[in-house]
Amino acid sequence: MTSPTILVLGKSGQLASALADQGSGNVVSIGRPDFDLAVPDASQRLLEAFRPAAVINAAAYTAVDRAESEPELAFALNRDGPATLAKACSRAGVPLIHVSTDCVFDGTKDGAYHEADIPRPINIYGASKRAGERAVLDAMPSALVVRTSWTFGPQGESFVTRLLALAQGRDSLTIVGDQHGKPTYAPALAEALLIFAHGMIGGSKTGGLMHLAGETALSRAEQAQIILDLARKRGGSWAKVTPIPSSAHPTAARRPLNAVLDCSLAAKRGIALGPFRRDIDIVLDRLLGPTASTQYQQPELSRTS
Ligand SMILES: NC(=O)c1ccc[n+]([C@@H]2O[C@H](COP(=O)([O-])OP(=O)(O)OC[C@H]3O[C@@H](n4cnc5c(N)ncnc54)[C@H](OP(=O)(O)O)[C@@H]3O)[C@@H](O)[C@H]2O)c1
Repeated sequence: MTSPTILVLGKSGQLASALADQGSGNVVSIGRPDFDLAVPDASQRLLEAFRPAAVINAAAYTAVDRAESEPELAFALNRDGPATLAKACSRAGVPLIHVSTDCVFDGTKDGAYHEADIPRPINIYGASKRAGERAVLDAMPSALVVRTSWTFGPQGESFVTRLLALAQGRDSLTIVGDQHGKPTYAPALAEALLIFAHGMIGGSKTGGLMHLAGETALSRAEQAQIILDLARKRGGSWAKVTPIPSSAHPTAARRPLNAVLDCSLAAKRGIALGPFRRDIDIVLDRLLGPTASTQYQQPELSRTS
């Protein structure tokens, strides 16, 4: 029997690429110019053309700082496009997984954010993503909305690639030390989303809102120093990281200081993602080459049930 086709929206993006890699031939990815989230009937036409068994939306407006000056575009792609998609999936009876972000929270909570915590975005990107979550679940309550955090992987641009470039020729770097989150390995997230998609097709997994991020919570400065220490072992660039407050590094969009997601619901539903040090080793092996002590190994997802 052939496996059902899972349609992934997004092609060249970090998560979309990981989904295509992890999908072992059952994933069809579609991105621009063939598919544009901003075109109102584009989702409907896709469903008619591909007749997928499930859809994963990994396409989004992700330019956090630029969103402050392009709110219409951010809302068109992060709210209106997903709303149209969810309506089309609901009409066609096709399970939908929509990806969202920790940026829906204001970061003032003392402790990790649960699904029941009230979102209060502090930037346009977060507001547009929160509006998208609501629009998707209003149009299709059975959809699964997965909030994730600080994704990184061997493909695409991320904090890891930007940091390695920034450290070249430098002895020291200042990085914000008061923003905390859970770095999430994109291939492991992709594998988990595919497991959920197959479960939704088979009726064993349900929708709603769910947090899914890596196991390790740390600050941006801590994350940066770990990356650079491990890069040095591979002959890559190294710098000493000095933590600074966010107030000393103003950006167009404010970031939540606490973006740590509680992922116990995902664990109850059978999936927990791995620790940062293990996953970053794999990425650095791919980006810089292995050290004598590391060899590339695809980590196994921890299935908690
Ligand atoms: N990166 C993070 O740290 C992070 C953290 C939390 C949540 N997330 C969420 O994770 C999801 C995936 O993000 P990512 O990191 O993979 O982002 P990314 O690397 O910036 O990729 C964005 C994707 O969106 C697609 N896209 C952008 N505009 C589009 C349009 N008008 N029509 C169709 N597709 C369009 C791009 O399409 P093309 O393939 O055509 O270029 C690309 O595949 C997003 O929902 C994001 O909000 C990301």
